[in-house]
This record gives sequence, structure tokens and C-alpha cells, in this order.
Amino acid sequence: MAEQKDEVLLKVEKVYYPPKRVLDKALISKEEFDQMYKRSIENPEEFWAEMAEKELYWFKKWDKVFEWNFPYYKWFIGGKLNITYNCLDRHVKNGKRNKVAYIYTNEDNQEIKITYGELLELVNKIANGLKSLGVQKGDRVVIYMPLVIEQLASMLACARIGAIHSVVYAGFSANALRMRIEDAKAKIVITSTWTKRRGKKIDLKSVVDEAVDGLDFVEKIVVLQREGDEFELAEKEIDFYQLIKDQSSECEPEIMDAEDPLFILYTSGSTGKPKGVLHTIGGYNLYTHVTTKYVFDIHEDDIYWCTADPGWITGHSYMVYGPLSVGTTSVIAEGAPDYPDPGRWWSIVEKYRVNIFYTAPTAIRLFMKYGEEWPAKYDLSSLRILGSVGEPINPEAWIWYYENIGRKQCSIVDTWWQTETGGHMITTVPAYPQKPGKAGKPFLGIEADVVNKDGEPVPPNNVGYLVIRKPWPSALRTCWGEPERFEKYWTEIDNLYFSGDLATKDEDGYIMILGRADDVINVSGHRIGTAEVESALVSHPAVAEAAVIGKPHDIKGESIKAFVILRKDYQPSENLVNDLKMHVRHELGSLAVPDEIEFVDKLPKTRSGKIMRRILRAKELGMPLGDISTLED
Ligand code: PRX
Repeated sequence: MAEQKDEVLLKVEKVYYPPKRVLDKALISKEEFDQMYKRSIENPEEFWAEMAEKELYWFKKWDKVFEWNFPYYKWFIGGKLNITYNCLDRHVKNGKRNKVAYIYTNEDNQEIKITYGELLELVNKIANGLKSLGVQKGDRVVIYMPLVIEQLASMLACARIGAIHSVVYAGFSANALRMRIEDAKAKIVITSTWTKRRGKKIDLKSVVDEAVDGLDFVEKIVVLQREGDEFELAEKEIDFYQLIKDQSSECEPEIMDAEDPLFILYTSGSTGKPKGVLHTIGGYNLYTHVTTKYVFDIHEDDIYWCTADPGWITGHSYMVYGPLSVGTTSVIAEGAPDYPDPGRWWSIVEKYRVNIFYTAPTAIRLFMKYGEEWPAKYDLSSLRILGSVGEPINPEAWIWYYENIGRKQCSIVDTWWQTETGGHMITTVPAYPQKPGKAGKPFLGIEADVVNKDGEPVPPNNVGYLVIRKPWPSALRTCWGEPERFEKYWTEIDNLYFSGDLATKDEDGYIMILGRADDVINVSGHRIGTAEVESALVSHPAVAEAAVIGKPHDIKGESIKAFVILRKDYQPSENLVNDLKMHVRHELGSLAVPDEIEFVDKLPKTRSGKIMRRILRAKELGMPLGDISTLED
């Protein structure tokens, strides 16, 4: 596997030192970070206990900090808390009732601000509404909504009463949504009528109708009707505001155990259907709080903007739980980054004086294509920290971001992490020297390494597997209903957390992520399993077999190419290509649609019948085929 990534190994020479204005303000200096890091590794339990005491409010303190019955672990055993108390109540009680929690905006430049006090009331009303529908602690609630305040508040309302939310990105198709609703056996689905992208309304409600059809265990569908919509609601459906209208704005937070589940979030693996990654409350609350505070260097009057969607882990950790726990003001923006014009995001930065901006390399590459004249029209001088997440950022994009958005006056934090890790694992904190293209150093409490398949560290600058040595507070606890898939993370290379990524580590300990080592494709920062796309294709009547690979793409990072063997009565045609694309869109959603479909007569396989995607990819990219001794033919 490792050789395959050699072509993307770039020599990264230049070190960028943090600008003075960042250093002057930084919560922790490089030296402080180094000292804290040393202590966090030498004595992790003491370190995390101190952090937990300092940063969070607990209804009852834990009896024991950490327990590891390989491969299962627990943090803050016996501790009692409610994450929404840490995200809302304590700020309201501590004088931040009128501080703005979210500034919502959209393509029409609408603006809605909600304060911590108002958000707490909204969350409580939704929580009481859910209770009135019979939702209890431990029940699953699926949320399929656009990026609106009610979406984030619904997540918090679940957490308030101990229900487990499973947010599904509103770009997923009915089938993908149905799989997630079924797998979690959700009692309630919360949705909305539509979202708007590029000026067009995208219907969400009909997707839900199709997804829940015949699922008797779904008791109610709560529908947020937008801007004067007046849908005729079916028997199981209830209007969002109707549900909460007469509810009390007070709702005692459920006293939760640190290890009670907080949410499930489905993510693609290299085989089979997506896994339901499960996070629990205490460790997740702590770790997302601490990373938000130090990685984004959040100060009391900062304005923070994360451009993700709550349907992904970045939205969970760094739009909802982390920023609220820290008590910051966040901008959220529904719609496309470049609509009505490519200046939209920069106009938002200017208008709200955003200080911390967190986005994905694919967006940066999109803006590079539009040209630097777009950001140049706006006053971006409020920016101090720029973040990157979701995929490797190529040095060219890093430098463009640094120069054209940061105007050489910002630190860049390239945060490597995963749905499974819950929070940032590798990055430089803002006061640390940065190397374009290299995510940097493990965060506090994280022992990361680059190893071979036997778990032995590889020499500096050699490619190996990125692993983490010990459980950290926000590590996934299991895969919903599939503990064996969880166990694989710790047994693939015995005793180490296997990230599935390839990486190198240089002489200074800076880690560079090279991409996935497995059959997962990263399209615009979204994880897509080759197996999922293949099975979607094979479910089409024309398709006998399919193999899917990721190809480098200028803007998306990777694009999907499918090789398809047709059944004998079908002939290749342009129409069939379109039909297959439509079919994948229907099965999985637009993000999984292949850019290219090639009809072939044969696929390279091992003697045991496994498709060798590596060979397809090498051939496609004109690279050496590598070891072909196991090839059948
Ligand atoms: O391959 C890595 C890539 O995204 C994967 C995790 O995807 P997901 O669980 O969807 O979470 C994305 C948001 C945290 C990783 O295995 N990845 C994520 N961040 C980076 C990255 N690759 C390189 N650099 C990053 N900063």
C-alpha cells in the first residue's frame, strides 16, 4: 500500500513562523505547549483530570479517571454531567445570557442572531416537545435538516434529555437515510421542508417520506416548515413549531453518566455499509472543549466561523459542542460558498469581523480557481487563525490560503482527525511554527506515530501507517450494533489505534498525512467507501460487477471513477452512463456519484476473487503496477 502514495510525497522545506499579532495573543506559547504536552504524556490521567475539573461542570465528580479493558476503555467513570449544561446553562448563569451564540446567515443575506439565553430556552422547548412525544433517555433520534439554528438546537435538545442523536447530512439520498434510520432504530426523525443551495430549493421532506416508508418503529416525524410553507402533514407528522409552541422553556438537564452515549454518526469504512461511530458524553465534552480552546485559541470576544455542515463530525465537534462549551460566538452559513458570487464567504468574514475561520482544502482550491481578486475586494483583517480539515492540504493551497486570506498575518492550523477520534489529533497550535502540507504535532495527551504493519516505527520521512498509542478521552467507544468493527481499530495493528491513513514523520516530529491506506475515497473532504459505491452500482439491473477507485482531482482532492462490467443483454452507451449516475445518486446521494464510468470486460482480481483496486488505480494513473504476484490473470 505504502509505495502507492509515493507520488504525492512532496518535499516541504519552508517553515512559517507565527506572526507577532498571533503570538502576542496566544493562550499558550510554543514552550508552554511543549511542557503541557510532556506532562500529558507522562501522566495522562492526572492531566485529563485537571483539565476536566478546570474546564467542565460536573454534577458529580468521577471515581476513576480511566480504565482500559482492551480494547474497551472508559473515561471519568462514575462522573455525572450534562453536555448541554456545559454548553448553555453555565454560560447563562455566568453572565453570558445576552452573548450571541450563533449568527445565522444564508444566500439571501438573511441574518438571525440567537443568544445563549435564547438558545437555552429553544433547546428546552424542543427537549420538552420530544419528551411529550415519549422520547426517553437512550432513544435514538435521527436529524435530517439543513444548516439552521433549529438543527443545532435539536441536537442539543436530544442531549438535554439523554436521547442519542444521529445526524444525517441532508445531501444523502432516501436509501442512505433509511439505512441509518433502520440501523439505529430511531423513534423520531426531525426534518425540514427544504434547504436552499445556489438559489434553488432542495426538497428534503420527500426524501424523508421515502426513507421512512413502512418503518413502523418510527413513531413521529417532526417537520420544520420554512418561510410560510404550509404542508399538509400526514398522520405521523407534526409541525416543529406546533410541537414546541406551548412547551415550557425550562427543562432540567438529565443527569447523565460520563460514559452514556451522546450520539451516533455514520461514516464510511473500507468494506460493507457505513459504521455507526458512537461517542459518549464526558470524554467527548472535555476533549472537544480543550481542542476548541487551544487549537483555535479562542478569546472571549472572538467571532468564530466553521464552514462545515452539522451532518459531519466537524459540525458536531466544532460547530456545536466545542464552541458552545467554550462559550464563543459562531457564524453559521447555509448555502454554497460561491453563490451568488465567489465573494460570498469573504463578505461574511468582513461583515461579522470573523477572527477564526475553519474550512476544508477543497473550498480553498475552489477559491484559488476563482482568483485572488475575489478575497482582495474585502477587508479580512479581523482574521487571526485559519483552520483546515478533512483532507491533506497541498502546499500550494496552504500558501494561497496564508497569503490571500490570511494576508500573511494569520497562523494556519491544519487539523488532522476523524469521525472516530471526535476531536483534533494532529495539528500545530497557533503559536507553533507551521510547515505547509504537514499537519504537525500530536495534540495534548495524544501519542501519535508512523509505523509499519508490525507496529514498529518507520525511520523519519518514510511512509507508514498513522497510529495512536493509547485511548484519548474522545475516542469512539464502539460501532453501533457492531462491536467487532470497533475492535478492528485496535487489533489491525495490535494494541494501537489504526487510523487507516498513511503518513510520514520528519526529524522535528511533524506529521504529514498522505491519504487513506484503505479503500476509502476522500471526495471534497467527504469519506466514501469504494464498497458502498460498488454495491450501489451492482444493484442496477445492467451491472454485473463494478470496481471503484479514487483519482486525484484539482479541486475535490479525489474524484470517483468506476469500472463496470455489464450483464450480457446490455450495451455500453452514454445514456447508460447517465442512468448509472442517477442510480448511484438515488442509492447514496450526489456526493457519491462517479465522475467517470468506464465499461470493461474484466477486472483485475486476486486468485481468491478480491478485486485489486490498486492495480486499476496504477493503470489509470500510468504508474508502475507494483507487486502483481497475487493477480489471477
Ligand atoms: O484521511 C483523513 C482525512 O479525513 C479522514 C477522516 O474523515 P472523516 O471521519 O469524515 O472526518 C473528517 C473531518 C475530521 C482521515 O482519515 N483527513 C481529515 N483531516 C485531515 C485529513 N487528511 C489530511 N489532513 C487533514 N487535516
